[in-house]
Amino acid sequence: MPPAYGPVVTVVDSAAPAALVAAAAATQRPDQGAALDAAFLAASARYWHPVARSSDVGAAPVHAVLLGVELVLWRRPASGPAAASGEPGTASTAGAGAVAALVDQCPHRSVPLSGGEVDADGRLRCPYHSWGFDGAGRCVDIPQQPGQRIPDIIAAQPVRVAEAAGLVWACLVDEEDEARPRPRFPEIEDLGWPHYVGTVQDWNGQAARQVENFCDIGHFSVLHTDTFGNAEALAVEPYAVRRTAWTIEADYRYPSVNPVAEPGPDGRRPVGETFFQYRIELPFAVWLGGANGPGSVMFSVSAPTSATTLRLFWMSAFDPAVHGDEPVDGIGLQAVEDLIWAPDKAIVESQRPARVFAATEVHRAFDGLGVAYREALRDLGFAG
Ligand code: FES
Ligand SMILES: [Fe+2]
Repeated sequence: MPPAYGPVVTVVDSAAPAALVAAAAATQRPDQGAALDAAFLAASARYWHPVARSSDVGAAPVHAVLLGVELVLWRRPASGPAAASGEPGTASTAGAGAVAALVDQCPHRSVPLSGGEVDADGRLRCPYHSWGFDGAGRCVDIPQQPGQRIPDIIAAQPVRVAEAAGLVWACLVDEEDEARPRPRFPEIEDLGWPHYVGTVQDWNGQAARQVENFCDIGHFSVLHTDTFGNAEALAVEPYAVRRTAWTIEADYRYPSVNPVAEPGPDGRRPVGETFFQYRIELPFAVWLGGANGPGSVMFSVSAPTSATTLRLFWMSAFDPAVHGDEPVDGIGLQAVEDLIWAPDKAIVESQRPARVFAATEVHRAFDGLGVAYREALRDLGFAG
């Protein structure tokens, strides 16, 4: 018995051109797009998503977008009144050096707070009238009316944030409305493997499309022949897909071309087996064992900046028992991964419709992991 594939859906209708025009018109109806986007955004809002790399958030305000919501992030000082008080009751991570996040809109005249600056006490100052806000969003200073009590109602909207695995994560709903806790990255968070946090990329594509692309085995030997793809290994062997409540897993052994080796006398670069171990952490994170060779794990986390755009974060971690304790060669790794990400980005950005659940697409057995992923997203309400 070969291993079970994911369920296969085959569309047998070969549509005539006129029908294609009608179908295209249907998928472009603003009302359909709006309904799909509303479902996608509402479902996505119940999860934690990365909004910045930790290393990119310092004492100056940083602007970010999550699910169409504009945010401002900043890191509170390691000393001073804000740090000393710990700001009890804050909805953001409390304490010295912690990151705070607010909706990027001043309650006074709706100016983006990210255009302001952080004062010596760690309060975010609006650029228009310099009102000061703490990490919980409370307005703690109105310079135009010194000494007057400030009503609690004057506040910017706080957003829950956490830092882990080199990233700042945000969740737009209260804890009781969370669908699941933030996915964990044990090799970085618990085991302390040497790791590298890659550059952040903005893709003009849907987060679900990016995750599916990252888990698409059938394109290696077509799209990535300038790096690890092996043009002589187009056939995809059967593989099993396993699903749990919050994960989808599949393993695949692939005869990769070494992307950094020099070609031999025959002009070919050496081939070696890569054991890819996929674990999708629903909805948009992927743990990928073996991606950078034995004893490595790569993480791809797609954050929906809107229903049809994404910000991509990635990290690679290396088992010190295999690779030693030396720091990761981030420059070399980034150079290789840039070559791999570039065609993936171009493909995802070219997909029409951009919304995966607006598409009528065929699947074959080798698409089993992607099919299981779509089914899971549907189960979780991402298709409405
Ligand atoms: S608009 Fe922000 S203080 Fe006036
Ligand atoms: Fe790819």
